[in-house]
Amino acid sequence: MLEMDPLSDGLRDELRETAVSAARMAGTILTERARLGFRVEFKDSVNLVTDADRQAEQAVVDTILSRYPEHRILAEEGGQRRGGTSPYQWVIDPLDGTTNFAHGYPAYCVSIGVEYQGQGLLGVVLDPTRNELFVGEAGRGATLNGNRVRVSETPTLNMALLVTGFAYDIRNTPHNNLNYFTRFALKAQGIRRTGTAALDLCYVACGRFDGFWELKLQPWDMAAGAIILQEAGGRVSDFKGGDLSIYGRELVSSNGLIHEDMLYVLQSNS
Ligand code: IPD
Ligand code: CA
Ligand code: CA
Repeated sequence: MLEMDPLSDGLRDELRETAVSAARMAGTILTERARLGFRVEFKDSVNLVTDADRQAEQAVVDTILSRYPEHRILAEEGGQRRGGTSPYQWVIDPLDGTTNFAHGYPAYCVSIGVEYQGQGLLGVVLDPTRNELFVGEAGRGATLNGNRVRVSETPTLNMALLVTGFAYDIRNTPHNNLNYFTRFALKAQGIRRTGTAALDLCYVACGRFDGFWELKLQPWDMAAGAIILQEAGGRVSDFKGGDLSIYGRELVSSNGLIHEDMLYVLQSNS
């Protein structure tokens, strides 16, 4: 059998198709379970998981492994499933926005990222409630339902609509984002908290939001959305303006134009 160049156009198309079909399968499961019911468990007093999270993750993992049995997988509910030496790693959040899902609030998504040799290669995010599919591929741009997307042109923080989120340890630590939230609330045109970090990144990518920051995120919250955002012309970094690591847990992202102003707010002491 002919070996494919690891990053040939053909292989990249195949990876994208696999990711999209896995996301659609998980999306169908979430839609069905939202309609028919699901069981809620508590990871701790505020952090929920449902059996729909696990079922959706299983569908994604099965789809990937049926085509790429040697690829590594890091998924929220199952952790690091494959410790092999493949240069490919899939980073999966089967249901980003579990609290929303559990309350029947229609803001959640399936998020699937692919890294090649530790670099983001592909991101697919599906919002099954609106049937919106975001795709970003390194060097190939970002799309929403097949149409190119770009970040907004909002020039100043004063005119910006921002979004953020809060980690599940909000009650147990002063490092809980409330200080940054207060600062931005006084500087931006508005702030939203949607409860789904992967979609927040996609919404910055397509210009619905101008900027997003959050701390203590997990790799599966960021992997797909960060590529989609960058491919849409946005900027993503850590709080100091350095390169984002999805294993770093601090993220600020924007249309680029307001990025320095966001960093300034995140770094100022008052
Ligand atoms: C959460 C969501 C939320 C963010 C939290 C995440 P989950 O993911 O992305 O927006 O604020 O930090 O943990 O638990 O719904 O997959
Ligand atoms: Ca998540
Ligand atoms: Ca999740």
